[in-house]
Amino acid sequence: MIKIAILGYGTIGSGVVEVLNTNKESIAKRAGDEIEVKYILDLRDFPGDPMEDKVIHDYEIIAQDSEVQVVVEAMGGVEPAYTFVKRALLAGKNVTTSNKALVAKHGAELIAIAKEQSINFLFEASVGGGIPIIRPLNSSLTADEIEEITGILNGTTNYMLSKMTFEGLEFDDVLKDAQSRGYAEADPTADIEGYDACRKIAILTSLVCGQQVDFEEIHTEGITKITATDICYAKAMGRVIKLLATSRKTNDGYCAMVAPFLLSQQHPLYSVNDVFNAIFVHGNVLGDAMFYGSGAGKLPTASAVVADIVDIVKHLHTNILISWNSRKMELIDCKKMQSRFFVRSSDKKEKIKEIFGDIEFIELEGVTDEIGFLTSIMMEEEYEKKVSELQNIIQKIRVV
Ligand code: HSE
Repeated sequence: MIKIAILGYGTIGSGVVEVLNTNKESIAKRAGDEIEVKYILDLRDFPGDPMEDKVIHDYEIIAQDSEVQVVVEAMGGVEPAYTFVKRALLAGKNVTTSNKALVAKHGAELIAIAKEQSINFLFEASVGGGIPIIRPLNSSLTADEIEEITGILNGTTNYMLSKMTFEGLEFDDVLKDAQSRGYAEADPTADIEGYDACRKIAILTSLVCGQQVDFEEIHTEGITKITATDICYAKAMGRVIKLLATSRKTNDGYCAMVAPFLLSQQHPLYSVNDVFNAIFVHGNVLGDAMFYGSGAGKLPTASAVVADIVDIVKHLHTNILISWNSRKMELIDCKKMQSRFFVRSSDKKEKIKEIFGDIEFIELEGVTDEIGFLTSIMMEEEYEKKVSELQNIIQKIRVV
């Protein structure tokens, strides 16, 4: 019997209990042992809950109980999660977490401690909810040099942009709707400003390059400036707007960014709608692969956490090597990357043509005080130089 402790009895923590109960027998078969929840750490009491008697308020009880072999961290946020997880690992307890903030900030250090202790620190649920992506990158795709990872990594913003696209609604209205459905984080800033996706692409890029990628250095734009008019332009071009988190390997190093992009119908992420997430991976020998599914929510996320528990039980006292050390990876400035740009401007067509040369104008019926245009492919710093010569820029969105 393997005894586990769950830190945090919120959405994910209670989801883990539910998954362990729902699939008790098959999970025990696959793990090769039964799994029992010994403690649930939470500040609150849960009167009437079937797990009521497992709830404790003092982490020391878990830290000092040598029977607990696995700690499930489902609290969220960096502290006190970091302190609790580090202590658990140093005490020889395996850990699985769904906490992207913790993994993005302290992943390299926690992985190193687990290795020293011959135990495991696993974090499949921290990116893409229930979609397997961490384990594939760490085991199935190790024959490849991963040259690109591009994902829709935030379900809330994908839901919002889909709703704006299909129903022609404005940003504020769809945000309220996403909040009422419980998709948005407690503070929706993390979703709509791209910070959530930024931490997730930092984790994926760290795994791909094997070094620490600091999320603070990833160029991050959210979707707060996207309007219903932008969506109309996108439709006129046969495109959709998606918040992409992308990381590319170039000859000079890695470049990562989070920003809204205009996608053509041929793009593999074009049809990923609503709260779904998807991750496109390009390997130098594999070619293209896509991972698609439920990127958030109680049971999908708990499914990934429980799969980590099973993996931990299958590898007790054996570290599963994760190549991610604490040496910092200096990212390339995104301004050195090539892209096409869609621009809305109220400058004169002639002036725009004079500055940008070969462009394609997009006109919207009934709109006379501005014009949209698509540039040719150019380096972002070249675009910025050119655009500074225009007087009135209303919007700029990168195009893939
Ligand atoms: N708020 C996140 C999202 C939850 O919408 O994707 C999963 O990390």
